[in-house]
Amino acid sequence: MCGIVAYVGEKSVDSVLLVGLIRLEYRGYDSAGVAVIDGGEIEIRKQLGKIRDLEEELRLHPVSGNIGIGHTRWATHGEPSKINAHPHVDSHKKIAVVHNGIIENYHLLRHELQKLGHKFVSETDSEIIPHLIEEELKTASGMVEALKNTIPKLEGKFSFTVIYENEPDRIFFARNGSPLVYGKGKNESFLASDVSAVIPAAKEEFRLDNGQWGWVTKNELHVFDENGKEVDHSLEEIKMNAMELDKGGFEHYMLKEIYEQPDVIRRIISNRIDGSTILFPEMALPLDYQGRVTRIIITSAGTSWHAGIIGKLYFEKYVKIATEVDISSEFRYRNPIAEGDSMVIAISQSGETADTLAGIHEAKSKFCRVLSFVNNVNSTIARESDAFISLMGGVEIGVASTKAYTAQLLNLLLYSMYLSSIKWLSTPEERSELITEIRALPEKIETVLKGADQIKEWAKELKDAKDFIFLGRHFNHPTALEGALKLKEISYVHASGYAGGEFKHGPIALISSEVPTVCIAPQTEIYPKMVSNIEEVKARKGRIVSIYTEGDTKVPEMSEFSFAIPKTIDVLTPILTIIPLQLFSYYMAVERGCEPDQPRNLAKSVTVE
Ligand code: M6R
Repeated sequence: MCGIVAYVGEKSVDSVLLVGLIRLEYRGYDSAGVAVIDGGEIEIRKQLGKIRDLEEELRLHPVSGNIGIGHTRWATHGEPSKINAHPHVDSHKKIAVVHNGIIENYHLLRHELQKLGHKFVSETDSEIIPHLIEEELKTASGMVEALKNTIPKLEGKFSFTVIYENEPDRIFFARNGSPLVYGKGKNESFLASDVSAVIPAAKEEFRLDNGQWGWVTKNELHVFDENGKEVDHSLEEIKMNAMELDKGGFEHYMLKEIYEQPDVIRRIISNRIDGSTILFPEMALPLDYQGRVTRIIITSAGTSWHAGIIGKLYFEKYVKIATEVDISSEFRYRNPIAEGDSMVIAISQSGETADTLAGIHEAKSKFCRVLSFVNNVNSTIARESDAFISLMGGVEIGVASTKAYTAQLLNLLLYSMYLSSIKWLSTPEERSELITEIRALPEKIETVLKGADQIKEWAKELKDAKDFIFLGRHFNHPTALEGALKLKEISYVHASGYAGGEFKHGPIALISSEVPTVCIAPQTEIYPKMVSNIEEVKARKGRIVSIYTEGDTKVPEMSEFSFAIPKTIDVLTPILTIIPLQLFSYYMAVERGCEPDQPRNLAKSVTVE
């Protein structure tokens, strides 16, 4: 969390940094700031709030220069405030630093530095970095040596960039655990947490590895390893398209991304399905190993965890492999037993989630192979896994994950079919039947999206409800969890998802006319059981909101609000049922005056444990 960007070149640095920070705002948005070398001196501008507040501050108090660093913050140490906002400086305001990550030993370092006379103004861990560098500069030959001596003193995960008044043409940097990428444009260099912050100006990139550090000028990049040895770096063409970063005429990224789902599913189909054959060309695990796998452990967080629960059902149904699913932050502490040919599957949209990354490290320490399903194929999780599968969802910017979720579901289903084929558990005919249904999905999603106005009306009617219950079973139990999570995170309405069968074991006590119950009741194998759940709510005078299959008359008759999805086979229902619920949370947020793309207290990539 937190986004950093740095620029040295010929353009006016304040506007370059602002554009970069807007692109990185998904990483945190409680405060922001820039430091610029302006007329030979470091000038700092900071503001509590969003980048637009910083922009206003820069309009009122402009800076000019061609070299600078910027930061958008998601608070870890110290409340969101102007003082805690980055950049942070040393005692003489000659060194400015922006930092992403956590310095775990900062208490100790701060104490030692205070004994040496350093005064700190913020409550952040980050502020110790410029002070440490300042201290090292007292004996070092210059900034390169000071930085080299500073880095080993820092424990934790970080990436940071530094400007120094006495060396006004260079930006210094270090990476250890938090992402950092170098971008090269014409007579200009960028550093950023994410390549989206530097396009289209930067045409080529170099993704820094953990332990690497160095410096850039407008035309040079120098990278060193932990031992101070300069390492080769070859630049690669940046493939990301700036168009993907636009809202495309939608009011919010979240809505745009919901509407992109038919195309995402089409893209996955055309890349992964050839006749009755399923293809994962990018996946590097040996076939014989995959054929031997006897146990799967899925580890993921949030929405990706919900996808993992459905993945378990797919693997058990089609591959007959015992599968466990664990929340990443729990997985690593439960001392998981990995025996025989266990494969760990990590699912992550961003590929940067610290909990999931820690789970991967845990799995590797137990000698398990790790296959990750990631949307960002250049991410740390993709790089640290033995192999990865690309979700092909396209850039997802809205903090609430939508299209990445449906992409996760389809890729997990296809991978389960792929495993079933290499284990000789399915015939081409069986796969063809499923594929025919999958091919019909994009149009069915489009049909669901055409009903958005109906969902908007629900939101108008229900916007004041304070609590919601979501019920679903089997393939749609995770839909209930996901629908509830979406509502909580962007509308700030309390919602809990339950397995329908569990309802009578406690949550049913919550039913009242004040608490609407969203029942996900498509016509699947367990449909009659969901109908029983709806009866139970109705008998207690609860308000019923339902998702049902077109042609069904029973469920809509029992419901106050109901929405029909097209018919499909059981395994594909969660790809359709979640879409009205994504729309519902979006419209609820809008009705309640919340900001759907930037919900409070959240960030898109959760890079702290
Ligand atoms: O990038 P990841 O898929 O690893 O992220 C995991 C969760 O942080 C994420 O799904 C989060 O729950 C979303 N905000 C949900 O919309």
